[in-house]
Amino acid sequence: MTWEKRWSLALGLTVGMLTGGMTISHAQMELHLTLPLGLERESLVLPEDNLLTRDKVELGKLLFFDKRLSANNTIACASCHMPALAFTDGQPVSTGIHRQQGGRSAPAAINRAFSSAQFWDGRAATLEDQSVGPFVSPVEHGFANHDELVAKVKGIAGYHPLFEQAFGPGGITVELIGKAIASFQRTLLSGNSAYDQFGVGGNEMALSAKAQNGFRVFVGKGQCLRCHFGFNFTDERFHNLGVDWDMDHIDVGRFAVTKNPKDLGAFKTPTLREIARTAPYMHDGRLATLRQVVDFYDQGGTPNPYLDPVIKPLNLSNQEKEDLVEFLHALNGEGWEVLPPATFPK
Ligand code: HEC
Ligand code: HEC
Repeated sequence: MTWEKRWSLALGLTVGMLTGGMTISHAQMELHLTLPLGLERESLVLPEDNLLTRDKVELGKLLFFDKRLSANNTIACASCHMPALAFTDGQPVSTGIHRQQGGRSAPAAINRAFSSAQFWDGRAATLEDQSVGPFVSPVEHGFANHDELVAKVKGIAGYHPLFEQAFGPGGITVELIGKAIASFQRTLLSGNSAYDQFGVGGNEMALSAKAQNGFRVFVGKGQCLRCHFGFNFTDERFHNLGVDWDMDHIDVGRFAVTKNPKDLGAFKTPTLREIARTAPYMHDGRLATLRQVVDFYDQGGTPNPYLDPVIKPLNLSNQEKEDLVEFLHALNGEGWEVLPPATFPK
């Protein structure tokens, strides 16, 4: 038995004694996330009213993959956030219920444990809020309201004991569905990439010379670090790069949340971890390859009145562009590979 396990068991016993014989199981105790190399524990956003436990994570995983949680039993979260594609869907914009398409690209739902604001425009302030949003989107899970969702989950008898185990008695509510799915999502991590092995792990061999040059471009001439900084390669802020400003109809982005004209066409800086696995790119999925992304930055985005002042033509050489792309490939890591559940509650 490891020291940690022995300690947990001892704690379990103590809790049992203090509460007059009522014991809690290992699975109900706080789960200590094992972080892959390169991720920072102090940056985890773990809300006090949703202690991370094994039971919640297991329940959240079932809910994430269960297609019955849609108006016509065809769509699960995993339909658009597929484990095989680092939890994105490989499409420019996602296809939901009745094969309807939304206007935005599905982000890789990894390292969400390190962010507060979720979605391209940050409209969900917590991962708990985010986790119930898609159910009532007419182009995603297609429920008219959250009551319909709750009624459907309640109709599956096998879910009742799982909710009780995870949250205690009190029944199934939309709040608890959100807490369970958020808990599962917090376990989808990406770290221990070649970049981490090189930088944090000190393994000189982990990054090729090309990728090391690319890192220099990323930090220097490319100015990428101005927004994609820190261990998760994001400032968690919103910027206008002019991505769709060559169109008749632009997506207003962050403006829809703040109503501040300064936020017109601004979107959240996404993490760049797993980026080589999550094409196509940008909020509308218009760029098919990382080379196209680099070319887009090189030209200085698409000029518009709200363009972020940092975005300017870069005059990168072909070699610098190639090296930058090589560096981005070195951000593929591990920690998000989970298998879909083999069976679902009946
Ligand atoms: C029909 C496809 C589809 C389905 C189903 C779907 N999503 Fe998404 N997801 C998207 C798209 C598209 C976005 C971006 C929307 C936006 O930002 O406005 C997104 C955004 C997200 C984000 C935000 C990531 C970030 O970086 O901010 C998370 C997390 C997420 N989804 C998790 C879920 C969960 C949990 C479910 C199930 C309850 C779900 N999704 C169902 C397509 C889908
Ligand atoms: C001013 C801030 C800023 C700078 C500088 C910046 N980015 Fe970004 N990056 C963003 C934002 C914001 C988005 C999303 C924009 C959108 O979809 O409208 C983004 C998107 C991306 C994407 C696509 C991510 C995805 O999941 O679709 C990649 C790849 C990327 N940036 C790489 C880079 C590289 C490489 C550089 C340097 C050449 C760079 N960025 C410089 C803010 C920035």
